[in-house]
Amino acid sequence: MQRLKNQVALVTGASSGIGIAVAKALAAEGAQVVVNYRSSKSEALQVVEEIEAEGGVAIALQADVSDENAVQQMFAEMFAAFGTIDILVNNAGMQKDANLVDMSLADWQKVINVNLGGTFICAREAAKEFIRRGVISERSCAAGKIIFMSSVHDIIPWAGHSNYAASKGGMKLFMQSIAQELAQYKIRVNSIAPGAIKTPINREAWETAEAREKLLKLIPYGRIGVPEDIGKAAVWLASDDSDYVHGETLYIDGGMTLYPGFATGEG
Ligand code: BGC
Repeated sequence: MQRLKNQVALVTGASSGIGIAVAKALAAEGAQVVVNYRSSKSEALQVVEEIEAEGGVAIALQADVSDENAVQQMFAEMFAAFGTIDILVNNAGMQKDANLVDMSLADWQKVINVNLGGTFICAREAAKEFIRRGVISERSCAAGKIIFMSSVHDIIPWAGHSNYAASKGGMKLFMQSIAQELAQYKIRVNSIAPGAIKTPINREAWETAEAREKLLKLIPYGRIGVPEDIGKAAVWLASDDSDYVHGETLYIDGGMTLYPGFATGEG
């Protein structure tokens, strides 16, 4: 199937983890993909190579999403290469974990600036182009689609990770507010909220048998997620199959948000 044929997709933070799977899944559906990276150039080029090997189209573009000038430069390069944008996946994100009393202001700001500020800059630049261009009906019913990569921690509080949880909680209302604002232009805005997905960001949580056992207690469905679980959902949210889905958060977490501690009914 080529559900995203002729569409241009920008995936931020696409040189690792969930971003790689999303970039590949969108490309497999016919999208021309911009693989954004901040510092991992060779990894990004590897993703481009793998997409091309499957017959897809991709380029790698560098930008730190929290740097306004760098993002604007990246958008200009994307427009030069592919002409426009149809799909933005605001995926770039990071953790800098510490208990509150040990957390530096720098680590607070870094996580908020990248996870939340970066999505603001990219969403603004994409929305400007979506509004300028409008709907091209051969491509999609919508003038553009924005997908945020949130987290179960946009609703599950997370001790020791308060900067990260604050960035994702903030993302939830940012997403909903711009969904309200942009609907009139036929721009669809949604979030994916992954649970524990096996990627470098949470290596500690799955690397040892002991850690895995502890983690699985939080996942009713009994397995740790893989990036492809998220890639498939991103394709659906980017495609016209989800044309009536707007302002939603799709939790993809094997049931992590079901309060598994209450599973026995004893309270
Ligand atoms: C975090 C991971 C964590 C998962 C579930 C994600 O948003 O980045 O480190 O394993 O949430 O707690």
